[in-house]
Amino acid sequence: MNKKEKYAEVLRMIQAVVEEESDMVANMANVAALLHEEFGFWWTGFYRVDQESEQLVLGPFQGPVACTRIPFGKGVCGTAWERAEVVIVPDVHKFPGHIACSSASNSEIVVPVFQGKKVIAVLDIDSTEFNTFDQTDKEWLEKIVSLIR
Ligand code: SME
Repeated sequence: MNKKEKYAEVLRMIQAVVEEESDMVANMANVAALLHEEFGFWWTGFYRVDQESEQLVLGPFQGPVACTRIPFGKGVCGTAWERAEVVIVPDVHKFPGHIACSSASNSEIVVPVFQGKKVIAVLDIDSTEFNTFDQTDKEWLEKIVSLIR
């Protein structure tokens, strides 16, 4: 099964688990679990926007313990929030300001979660391999996070 076929299958699984549930945190938890289990990523999880402190706060995730707060514009996650667009990092060691929650991580993708035009959270996925994420991941992960409302 190629990556697109795998994503199509995972998207169907995610649709099935989120369609009956309206709680955003519960849905984030199952999305993180399904992506993590099905693709075997190193770290898969959400950071939620806290408007008051202008920080991202750790949300549901799978994988090793992670940093709890990331300021607006900082790291890959804070950059994706600031730009309101997907950020793909083929080699995290070359990304200025990358926040290393784990030294095992070598590449990363961060996908904003929108409510209207506003970023309300980001999905962050880390891989121990370099160059893990491409336009296929971007395209499918955008579809997946659009199911979280
Ligand atoms: N590397 C991220 C921080 C979060 S952890 O990878 C889980 C960043 O630079 O924003």
